[in-house]
Amino acid sequence: MSLPLRATWSTPQGLLTAIEPGPAEVKHAAARLADFYNDPHNAALLTNTIRFTPDDVVQLFADARAEGTRPLLYHRGGELVGDGDLRNITGTDAEIAVLLGPRALQGLGLGRRFATMTLALAYEAMGLLRVHAMIRPENVGSLRMFGALGFTKDDSPMARSFAEEDDDVCLSLGKTEFLAGAKEALAEIRLDVSESVETRGGSGEMRGARG
Ligand SMILES: CC(C)(COP(=O)(O)OP(=O)(O)OC[C@H]1O[C@@H](n2cnc3c(N)ncnc32)[C@H](O)[C@@H]1OP(=O)(O)O)[C@@H](O)C(=O)NCCC(=O)NCCS
Repeated sequence: MSLPLRATWSTPQGLLTAIEPGPAEVKHAAARLADFYNDPHNAALLTNTIRFTPDDVVQLFADARAEGTRPLLYHRGGELVGDGDLRNITGTDAEIAVLLGPRALQGLGLGRRFATMTLALAYEAMGLLRVHAMIRPENVGSLRMFGALGFTKDDSPMARSFAEEDDDVCLSLGKTEFLAGAKEALAEIRLDVSESVETRGGSGEMRGARG
């Protein structure tokens, strides 16, 4: 069993954390997550087909876990503002999903910051080499956010294997490009890399000691 993923980032927008929750934390967050998922705008972009109850959310996380997904809860200043995950994980690749729940907080750069933290965990704590994002073509915000992070169109058979719909836009980003593009952010993000397969600074200790 892997140790829980954990990243923190002190930003002008507040202290951001991305933490892999245990069952009790999921239960605690479930009602608010259900509200995020059920918001009509979010539900349309997430292509949700059901209205979630808190129990549905708990079940969703349990099912995801059983499939090997690494879920994350996103907090700003202690307040739950979204969730994300790394799913369909192979030895080298995974798919990322990010939700910044409150409509009033969308479009302010927070989604991009939490996506950056999730990618830092993917490449540096989990040792992945390429992360994929499957986006509905109408999801302009998501396309812009992943584009700004350096993701580019990838129609390779490997990338397309993550798609659920024929017209999903398949994007991907390699580790080298991410590390180069996110240098400034990475200098500020603290990761718990106690399970790291590789470290940037050469010390195998907590990344937190760096930041
Ligand atoms: C997609 C999502 C994660 C983006 O997070 P966010 O905090 O709103 O986005 P950011 O402010 O970090 O945006 C990054 C870029 O996208 C742009 N953007 C964000 N929302 C947008 C929207 N609705 N329409 C157009 N552009 C948008 C921002 O202006 C910014 O562009 P810039 O860097 O060129 O200025 C968030 O809006 C969300 O969760 N939406 C609902 C669920 C969803 O679609 N999840 C993604 C499924 S793959």
